[in-house]
Amino acid sequence: MRTLVTGGAGFLGSHLCERLLILGHDVVALDNMVTGRPSNVAHMVENPRFSLVNADLCDGIPVDGRFDRIFNLASPASPIDYVELPFETLYVGSDGTRHALERAVLDGARIMIASTSEVYGDPEVHPQVEGYWGNVNPIGPRSVYDEAKRFSEALAMAFARYKGCQVRIARIFNTYGPRMRSNDGRVIPAFVTQALAGEALTVFGEGAQTRSFCFVSDLIEGFIRLIESDYQLPVNLGNPIERSVLDLATRINSLVGNAAGVIHKPMPIDDPSRRRPDISLAKAELGWEPAVSFEDGLATTIRWFEAN
Ligand SMILES: NC(=O)c1ccc[n+]([C@@H]2O[C@H](COP(=O)([O-])OP(=O)(O)OC[C@H]3O[C@@H](n4cnc5c(N)ncnc54)[C@H](O)[C@@H]3O)[C@@H](O)[C@H]2O)c1
Repeated sequence: MRTLVTGGAGFLGSHLCERLLILGHDVVALDNMVTGRPSNVAHMVENPRFSLVNADLCDGIPVDGRFDRIFNLASPASPIDYVELPFETLYVGSDGTRHALERAVLDGARIMIASTSEVYGDPEVHPQVEGYWGNVNPIGPRSVYDEAKRFSEALAMAFARYKGCQVRIARIFNTYGPRMRSNDGRVIPAFVTQALAGEALTVFGEGAQTRSFCFVSDLIEGFIRLIESDYQLPVNLGNPIERSVLDLATRINSLVGNAAGVIHKPMPIDDPSRRRPDISLAKAELGWEPAVSFEDGLATTIRWFEAN
């Protein structure tokens, strides 16, 4: 198999490239490094089955030869990144996704689109099932990301319906693990970084808002199962165990041995109050569910942040 991973030098992309190499694929990672880092893939560049192409997906895919599989992950992904990069986020979700889908049609490749739980917005249905259409503010500050991803899904479905493209859509819920950036604004790297520095952890609001955190290796297993499955509609991939942000902060402080506690700050605009995937579909169609415990996943992540 020859496989293209757009956004391959990012957090999820680099873990996916690693797994694909282990599975015997030839892997091309395409990335413009807008939020990715060469260091994420530095340990793979000597591998003759791996190559890194520095390019903007919005300009096309400057790589010859046919691909069997395409994973389309390129996009700023954290709230800090996409608010700083609003146009880049909208364009990669539209033009970028279009290039990836057109290449999939040209090559007869299967393609997996990295969508997000943000398509559900601030959900009125809990836990979130794939059939729920979402509660998204189309003009709020987060809309550059939420609507870009919703457009990506619509584009992917049109390619599937009208061009016979073999499309798979992963609706990814909060995922964590090594290689996240400490300053990307996502809650686990932010808390771990503050705890390791002996600072109080910044909790928005009372910290009663919930999230469900999936360890990266579990998610990557879900990606592989999804692209190899015959299921063509969106599938939630995430960990269904829901935790409050305050509970998360307390656990991280206790694992790191940080006595500085937490400080509370006002809630950001449109921050979803509850988030939990219903993963019945992934269980039924892919035989997939997360296997890594929160304790093990957090410990691995904390060790990585300590070392880096
Ligand atoms: N990590 C999560 O919890 C999560 C949750 C939901 C969805 N996702 C989706 O998964 C994908 C990967 O997310 P991540 O957490 O690894 O983020 P990341 O920022 O670490 O990785 C994204 C990568 O895409 C690259 N990129 C962005 N625009 C590009 C462009 N125009 N051309 C080429 N490369 C480009 C970036 O440089 C980066 O390496 C994203 O599409 C994101 O929306 C992630």
